Amino acid sequence: MHMIFIGVESTAHTFGVGVMNSQGEVLANVKDSYSSADGGMIPDKVAKHHEEVAERILAEAFRVAGIAWKDVNFIAYSAGPGLDPALWAGYRIVSAWASTEGKKLVGVNHCCAHLSIGKVWNKLDDPCYLYVSGVNTQIIVEERLSEGKYQIIGETLDIGLGNMLDKFGRILGLGFPAGAKIEELAKRGKYVELPYTVKGMDASFSGILTKADQLFKRGIASREDLCFSMQETSFAMLAEVVERAMAHTGKKELLLVGGVGANTRFCEMLDIMCAQRGARFFKVPMDLAGDQGAMIAWEGYLRRGSYGNISVKPHWRTDEV
Ligand code: ATP
Ligand code: FE2
Repeated sequence: MHMIFIGVESTAHTFGVGVMNSQGEVLANVKDSYSSADGGMIPDKVAKHHEEVAERILAEAFRVAGIAWKDVNFIAYSAGPGLDPALWAGYRIVSAWASTEGKKLVGVNHCCAHLSIGKVWNKLDDPCYLYVSGVNTQIIVEERLSEGKYQIIGETLDIGLGNMLDKFGRILGLGFPAGAKIEELAKRGKYVELPYTVKGMDASFSGILTKADQLFKRGIASREDLCFSMQETSFAMLAEVVERAMAHTGKKELLLVGGVGANTRFCEMLDIMCAQRGARFFKVPMDLAGDQGAMIAWEGYLRRGSYGNISVKPHWRTDEV
């Protein structure tokens, strides 16, 4: 049966409403992100932002998709993981919509949504996932006998890669988020050695941050050289652990999801690694890579039989779904 449904994202900065159909087509994907001059994030202000923009974003999404409430089968929403006040704001908003319009709620996991939108967009069957965002750096596979049940087979031992880039960006005064600016500076840099820390299928990034901070403050290496070397070192570490994960699991497709996937050099290195081992590399288009509602809608479609109104789950891990 042909179905239309909406997804509402509100785990962090972004409030978004996506409209999708059961063929996996995105009919609308409208969002608005909270921002502040210093890049800081005051949780209560984020919640207030979401409440202020919600009706406008919904109306815009309906207009773009050319639908009305009567066409909507159910409302998916991001139940977690995320910031408590932002999640509760989103939950209050969707609860009100669901009761006024008489629609079913389907609470979903934000991280699983990043994975499933990448999978459907690329029409993949059984990829190895590399999920690299601000908070998360994980290598994930789906369990062979149960689709939608994920296993984390490698991850950061300390901070997420995006987090490391953003922290170094703060040291350099680049503003938040800093990943894209670091990528620009890196184009004019040359290599200096930074700690390369890989353990089995896990990696650690805090040593790179500490060393780069020291070299910068002592005036030993330039901003450009440090940005370049930080990228080369951390991307090579992840390419190494992912290659090991793929060899181990026999996966022939790699799918990169999360905001750091916007980095051209990172994609290039992963692409080369895959080509060398006879595997194929995939990523998601920019508008589906960061946080947005379409991915929540699709994850809700996949989970509509097993999840419903589950309130919020701020610390919900991918492998607990
Ligand atoms: P999560 O999905 O874990 O809740 P999130 O919402 O914090 O994460 P994303 O929007 O997926 O994260 O990713 C944000 C991160 O992507 C930031 O750390 C940012 O610096 C990084 N990033 C964005 N563009 C680039 C780029 N061109 N190169 C490297 N990193 C980038
Ligand atoms: Fe995200």
